[in-house]
Amino acid sequence: MYSTLLSLHSLVRWFVLAFLVYSIYRAFIGYNQNKTFSKTDNAFRHWTATVAHIQLMIGIILYTQSPVVKYFWTDTKSALQNLDLTFYGLIHIFLMLTAIVVLTIGSALAKRKPTDKEKFKTMLVWFSIALIVIFIAIPWTFSPLSSRPSFRTF
Ligand code: HEM
Repeated sequence: MYSTLLSLHSLVRWFVLAFLVYSIYRAFIGYNQNKTFSKTDNAFRHWTATVAHIQLMIGIILYTQSPVVKYFWTDTKSALQNLDLTFYGLIHIFLMLTAIVVLTIGSALAKRKPTDKEKFKTMLVWFSIALIVIFIAIPWTFSPLSSRPSFRTF
């Protein structure tokens, strides 16, 4: 179960990133070219938040199953000396939760804005902040915080 969840969590990261980047691109073009906030724009706003929420659910379950996290909470004092353990025990969850809250607020605010221009602007700003935080919190192969493979087999 643990290794399946880990592979799934690793894979879904690419969907989260793809949806976010494309939604931000649409918001940028829509805002600059004074476009109408179409049904497709609204669908991307909605689905980007939904994919992030799916990743959040997988992440929460993974957090309860992970031996890395278990070790962190059994021997927290010495685990805090180790960046990799601290990353999964605290940093990753804290930054990802923050990013998903930002994304969710942005999506909800954009939905309620009265004009199309404001909808695009709200999406552009909040989704971009969420993307930056997510980017920092992903354990890329080149990340100084923790390094994990880009793809895992199931
Ligand atoms: C947009 C949100 C998130 C993204 C893009 C993301 C991405 C990732 C990636 C790429 C990994 C490395 C997987 C691997 O080793 O192949 C990872 C590990 C992990 N993530 Fe997330 N994550 C997100 C949110 C969360 C949240 C909210 C939680 C907890 C509530 C969480 C818990 C974990 C845990 C516990 C691990 C490591 C498990 C282990 O090595 O035993 N993630 N995450």
